[in-house]
Amino acid sequence: MTNPSKSSPSPVHAEISGAYERALERSKESGSSCCGPGPASGNAAKLVDYGGDAAGLPEQAVRSSFGCGNPLAFADVQPGEVVADLGSGAGLDLLIASDKVGESGRVIGVDMTDAMLAEAQKNIERAGATNIELRKGTIEALPLDDASVDWVISNCVINLSPDKEAVFAEIARVLKPGGRVSVSDIVAEQLPAELREHAAVRSACIGGAISEAEYISGLQGAGLVDVEVTERMVYDEQQLLSVVALDDAQLEGLGEDFVRAAATATAGKVWSARFRAQRA
Ligand SMILES: C[S@@+](CC[C@H](N)C(=O)[O-])C[C@H]1O[C@@H](n2cnc3c(N)ncnc32)[C@H](O)[C@@H]1O
Repeated sequence: MTNPSKSSPSPVHAEISGAYERALERSKESGSSCCGPGPASGNAAKLVDYGGDAAGLPEQAVRSSFGCGNPLAFADVQPGEVVADLGSGAGLDLLIASDKVGESGRVIGVDMTDAMLAEAQKNIERAGATNIELRKGTIEALPLDDASVDWVISNCVINLSPDKEAVFAEIARVLKPGGRVSVSDIVAEQLPAELREHAAVRSACIGGAISEAEYISGLQGAGLVDVEVTERMVYDEQQLLSVVALDDAQLEGLGEDFVRAAATATAGKVWSARFRAQRA
């Protein structure tokens, strides 16, 4: 059962949802993204190594991707399995999972932002996928039954949560025994407090990031086993500048000097990591 005390979205949720509605609009206009590094006018999903996984999928789904990794890379998802994507956004990872589980499987996308759910629905229709279901909700109180999914995936979302302990507990709750986790996310070491406090830096997937060690102990603390990091991409100064793309940052009220100083201060201390884990 979902913890009822977690089911009301907080002001942080509203702020993040608003930021992603605006980011989605900007991605449609210019192809820019605000999560995951890419060239200033670029697109995180092109920088992220999707290999052949995104081949043939609707261009709009790729353009509106805000991920920082490919959680399904090397994941042994089998036909007939059930995959839940936490913070599914415009749906690129849903479509990749849909191919892997096939007609006998099911993919469930959970997101709290109406505009993202609407965009994902369009991309599902464009791709002609019939095994994907979208559910509105927060990742701290997942709209999923206990022990109901074989895989939990997520791409650059848990860092945004104001209550990561609740998210890790929810992951453990919804997984079937033996079910697996494959999550790509941004982690950060020793972030200056002024960065943590900035709403735009938080929405850019950096301000709320915890360290890799905290992530691992969070997953273990929820009872998950075989927790490991299978990939890391450490961001340099240029990549960090593109994560908090200057245009977007100015729109959000951060000055160029602030963003440049922040990129210098955090270079080498922020990276995208892929976490694997399992429910015993
Ligand atoms: C950085 S985007 C990533 C989207 C998608 N996973 C991708 O790779 O393109 C973050 C997404 O997570 C959603 N999100 C953020 N925090 C959430 C929360 N606490 N509960 C549910 N959805 C959340 C946002 O609405 C947004 O669609």
